[in-house]
Amino acid sequence: MKIPFLLRVVRSTQKIIRAQSHISSNVNQDEKKFFITTPIFYVNASPHIGHLYSAVVADCQSRYKQLRGFQTKFSTGTDEHGLKIQQAAEAASEDPLLFCTNVSQKFKHLFNTCSISCTDYIRTTEQRHYASVEHFWSALKDKGLIYKGTYEGWYSTPDESFLTASQVGDAVDSSGENVKISLESGHKVEWMKEENYMFRLSMFRPQLLDWLKGNPNAVRPEHFHQAVVQWLQEDLPDLSVSRQKSRLQWGIPVPGDPDQTIYVWLDALVNYLTVAGYPKNHQQWWSVARHVIGKDILKFHAIYWPAFLLGAGLPLPHTIHVHSHWTVGGKKMSKSLGNVVDPLERSSVYTTDGMRYFLLRQGVPDTDCDYTDDKVIKLLNAELADSLGGLLNRCTAPALNPAQVYPLFCPALFPVECTKQSRAVDEDYQMLDAVRNLSTTVEQYYEDMHVYKALEAVSACVRQTNGFVQRHTPWKLNRLDTEERLWQDTIIHIALECLRIYGTLLQPVVPQISNKLLSKLGVKQSERSWTALHFLPRFHGMDCPFEGRALGADNDVLFNRLERRNVKQKTKKEKASKKNLE
Ligand code: ME8
Ligand code: MG
Repeated sequence: MKIPFLLRVVRSTQKIIRAQSHISSNVNQDEKKFFITTPIFYVNASPHIGHLYSAVVADCQSRYKQLRGFQTKFSTGTDEHGLKIQQAAEAASEDPLLFCTNVSQKFKHLFNTCSISCTDYIRTTEQRHYASVEHFWSALKDKGLIYKGTYEGWYSTPDESFLTASQVGDAVDSSGENVKISLESGHKVEWMKEENYMFRLSMFRPQLLDWLKGNPNAVRPEHFHQAVVQWLQEDLPDLSVSRQKSRLQWGIPVPGDPDQTIYVWLDALVNYLTVAGYPKNHQQWWSVARHVIGKDILKFHAIYWPAFLLGAGLPLPHTIHVHSHWTVGGKKMSKSLGNVVDPLERSSVYTTDGMRYFLLRQGVPDTDCDYTDDKVIKLLNAELADSLGGLLNRCTAPALNPAQVYPLFCPALFPVECTKQSRAVDEDYQMLDAVRNLSTTVEQYYEDMHVYKALEAVSACVRQTNGFVQRHTPWKLNRLDTEERLWQDTIIHIALECLRIYGTLLQPVVPQISNKLLSKLGVKQSERSWTALHFLPRFHGMDCPFEGRALGADNDVLFNRLERRNVKQKTKKEKASKKNLE
């Protein structure tokens, strides 16, 4: 019996979905490859902390996986086509490519400054991307999934999004006029009617539901997964995937039809394939792809993108990691409110690691978070300057550590089983247990992208270690007395072992601070991976490679306390120099 063509497409995509979970988990475990992406950002305005946050979330994962021995690929970049950018360039009276290059450079500079270790920075105006999009379009076209039709409906240019009637509501704009807006983003929408190319999105609803059902980790956290399932219960009309050239010139022309320009979201989503090496060498990376995105672009990533991929016969992403939004002073960031936080300026005030630590310690994937400078100052002073920095400073100060070495551990004074000679108390054993279990806890949180919980766990242990040092007041011990000296060295040895664990675990979040800390402890580069973690081997009668080793020479403080007055002055200076540059 002859099977109709589209039915064959459906059957072959069902096979892809069934194969999906099997492929991704196997490749991940056996070949140890990890590929993570951020959204590519629109170049209509300069970056803000929300953009940096997505990049830091992805960077933290990529660094963590590297420490676990994975070969990693990590991409970010800029989304440069479409009506929104065309209009922004027009408004600035600039050539669109020059306009894009300018803003793209700002993103690149921000990411370089903030230790974003991407392996690829893609711009959609690059030749390699044109070739990839043209190939992808032709693959969909050849399968009969693109047809010429008429689109009539609502369009939001700021979101570059088509909306159904139920996604649109009424509002009054700033000049008192009645307007229609997108209920999700609040942006103004316009009615449009145009002949263009349509993609058979409606056909993919059952496969998308199968994919979500069969892959509970397809979209994380869970409530975003549920939201996508819910959307798929509603109407899923075919999608317009091109615009008439007369309206949109700034984009990639439809292959074979120069009167039409490819829809910017199709163009943009394909960037993930481009960086994987599509159309020639993408297999090895594409099968392990993970996307980090903000909740605002979930529909594009969890409905359109998988449908396009199924249509083109390609595997679906392993996981789409969704995060919520940063607000500022309780409000959405916007130019008109004047509350946009410039991440470059803030980083120069708080240091880039300070900024990274704040974003990852306070950012929660499930709910929106609020940024205030007050919160940053309090958090960084408490956890980086006082708690972690204070501990390192105490334990490496010449008064307590005159030889400037990783001192010796004395098992008789801190035995596995309590004895008469033992100086350790119950709380000390509890502290050791907590630190011993910390790497497993942190590992689980990193894997689940709950970095804030990982940092909370580290921070709790740092407090316990400070408590341990405080309890035994090693500065009161007399180094001329042999036992007191041995006990003082043991206390410091334990505290340095704790610090070594914290420094190693914090590398994905604060690479520079961790580097400083580990270098101070004399830990070599090759001793900083996850496999080198084992805590306090001397307690278990094993050798400790660090014992007796000289400490690093650098005596800088780990993190300078932020004083409100200085922060204000520095902020003023930064703002003034920014104005001069503009
Ligand atoms: O949507 N809080 O680009 P975009 C946290 N070009 N993250 C935020 C944020 C906030 N307040 N605001 C933005 C686009 N983000 C498309 C993407 S991908 C193929 C194309 C982050 O410049 C978050 O990751 O509007 C969000 O999804 C993204 O920036 C949107 O950036
Ligand atoms: Mg946006």
